[in-house]
Amino acid sequence: MARPILSFLSGALLATTSLGAPAATSCTATAYSDVSAAVASCTAITLSNIAVPAGSQLDLTKVQPSTTVTFAGTTTFGFKAWENPLILIGGTDFHITAASGAIIDGNGQAWWDGQGDNGVENTDGFNVKATNVLIQDITVINQDDCVAVSSGASNVTVRNASCDGSHGLSIGSVGSDTTIKDISFYDSVVKNSQNGVRIKTVSGATNSVVQNIVYQNIALSNISSYGIIVEQDYLNGGPSGTPTNGVTIKDVVFQNVTGTVTSKAKDYYVLCGSGSCSNITFSEVKVTGGTGDSCNYGSLC
Ligand SMILES: *[C@@H]1O[C@H](CO)[C@@H](O)[C@H](O)[C@H]1NC(C)=O
Ligand SMILES: *[C@@H]1O[C@H](CO)[C@@H](O)[C@H](O)[C@H]1NC(C)=O
Ligand SMILES: *[C@@H]1O[C@H](CO)[C@@H](O)[C@H](O)[C@H]1NC(C)=O
Ligand SMILES: *[C@@H]1O[C@H](CO)[C@@H](O)[C@H](O)[C@H]1NC(C)=O
Ligand SMILES: *[C@@H]1O[C@H](CO)[C@@H](O)[C@H](O)[C@H]1NC(C)=O
Repeated sequence: MARPILSFLSGALLATTSLGAPAATSCTATAYSDVSAAVASCTAITLSNIAVPAGSQLDLTKVQPSTTVTFAGTTTFGFKAWENPLILIGGTDFHITAASGAIIDGNGQAWWDGQGDNGVENTDGFNVKATNVLIQDITVINQDDCVAVSSGASNVTVRNASCDGSHGLSIGSVGSDTTIKDISFYDSVVKNSQNGVRIKTVSGATNSVVQNIVYQNIALSNISSYGIIVEQDYLNGGPSGTPTNGVTIKDVVFQNVTGTVTSKAKDYYVLCGSGSCSNITFSEVKVTGGTGDSCNYGSLC
């Protein structure tokens, strides 16, 4: 997950209007070379059919406060094998939206191996390392995490996401010395994917906390590896089988997470380190179709 399509850095993503604020300055960028000037001087920016050259990023980290950015038409990206987000978003108090029919075509297939795994690079849909973020009404078709909420994120809500072909709705990977808290995923669908929902902490990581997490009203279908995973043994892109307890996972609710996985998949995989998981509850959870579930914490298996 080193090269997400969209990456939120510090700051806040909010849908707000401020009374008394100066009137928005509107600009439409139709070429990649117009974008930085629009970002510097406009607070209502339309990005219309932007073609981002290979090796370049669509950099929206310097938007002014109270800016709205609207993606229109199809945004495309040239291919270069590198590990950087294609779109970088940061700042304070801004809103990003899409005009009807808008598509961000990350050209992911150029990076992927077509086998559902990490491919040449990793290619998350949304990678969020930020505070006070609302992501809603999104459709992601990709081959890595649909949404990955990671280091330092707090108060992040994801609602009405539709994930297809992905690695699921993820917290992590969680490494050392970080806190990820107050994260909620609601009313979402994950289909044709490796995983459904997961919390993954890195084997050997220390001094980190994952707290106050909600997965609610999530429908899974055609999941090929794991329906629900809480794992403290994540290493080199997958479970190593050796959990460690340097990351605390607490106050987590899985509610009304339902659906099906393929027959070779596991419905559930919960592998906590010694004493490092607490207050993780599962209610109205029912994932079926798989074999070989394994849980060392909680009531799922
Ligand atoms: C959490 O983020 C939302 C934006 O999604 C914001 O409206 C809300 O005020 C934030 N809550 C706190 C406690 O900061
Ligand atoms: C969910 O998001 C989709 C776009 O992906 C939108 O068409 C649909 O209306 C949204 N559903 C709700 C209940 O808002
Ligand atoms: C199930 O998902 C896989 C990808 O993991 C996809 O190749 C396959 O076509 C899907 N099957 C159905 C019936 O949609
Ligand atoms: C459970 O989640 C599904 C979506 O997966 C939703 O349609 C259903 O209304 C939810 N049930 C309750 C009791 O909220
Ligand atoms: C368990 O977690 C829930 C939130 O998920 C929280 O409301 C509750 O206070 C926690 N219980 C304890 C005993 O910490």
